[in-house]
Amino acid sequence: MSDTVYLNGEFMPLADARIPVLDRGFIFGDGIYEVIPVYSRHPFRLTEHLQRLQHSLDRIRIENPHDAAGWTRLIREIIERNDGDDQSVYLQVTRGVAKRDHAFPKGVKPTVFMMSNPLVTPAPALVESGVACITAQDFRWLNCDVKSIALLGNCLLRQLSVDAGAAETILLRDGQLTEASSSNVFVVKDGTVLTPPKNNLVLPGITYDVVIEIARAREFQLEVRAVTEAELRSADEIWLTSSTKEVLAVTTLDGKPVGDGNPGPLFRRMHALYQQFKLDHMR
Ligand code: PDD
Repeated sequence: MSDTVYLNGEFMPLADARIPVLDRGFIFGDGIYEVIPVYSRHPFRLTEHLQRLQHSLDRIRIENPHDAAGWTRLIREIIERNDGDDQSVYLQVTRGVAKRDHAFPKGVKPTVFMMSNPLVTPAPALVESGVACITAQDFRWLNCDVKSIALLGNCLLRQLSVDAGAAETILLRDGQLTEASSSNVFVVKDGTVLTPPKNNLVLPGITYDVVIEIARAREFQLEVRAVTEAELRSADEIWLTSSTKEVLAVTTLDGKPVGDGNPGPLFRRMHALYQQFKLDHMR
């Protein structure tokens, strides 16, 4: 667990960090967050994470409390103050503390919180075996591009896979793949990699962008377009991507094998390229 956290201008032990109960993050889930993976003490794709943070803040109309240089300093400092070379930095910004009223309060300072936990990426055995997933209807709101701290929908959906003994819940809306409860999804069919485009129905994943960048650079056949439920169910391969899962193969879907039930050849290639990309892009 994180030892040193950051709250509103100060670094302190986790046990000392306190927020007022009227914080709008607590009362309304009125805030946004980021999760930034750190490899060998280098935050991965920091510029892109800070751009997505700005997007989320703009979408919910909170003024960014720090510029990119300010965030970079804070993130470097929390990495410095915590143990371990590979970390997962969590940061959240809420609209701040105010008497409970749905309308935005005036003149209130956002609450800024950051912590760092050890980065736990999939163990080699899991990369080799792949994971089980289930599907569910995506009943979340229509602003899934906002990295909102209000994750009740995602938590309820994730718990369905916990209850089924599976690793993730892959989501379908109106007969089309959106994403998973805390990951983006790629599908391979007849040698072509398919993934839904970025829009209001999915979180614009930083790992998703890296996988697309690698696929284009290495001339994978790639189509970024709507993916139907039928394509998902008849896929040769399915991959999950996220900052903590990196790229992970799905080997059963709703109890049925995906392809031959083993991580496929394009997954293996992409996984190796992703590991190399991490080493080449430590900044
Ligand atoms: N989750 N979609 C959803 C709904 C997510 O919550 C996440 C990440 C992703 C993948 O985004 P990225 O590649 O930037 O990690 C997609 C993080 C890790 C979390 O909530 O812990």
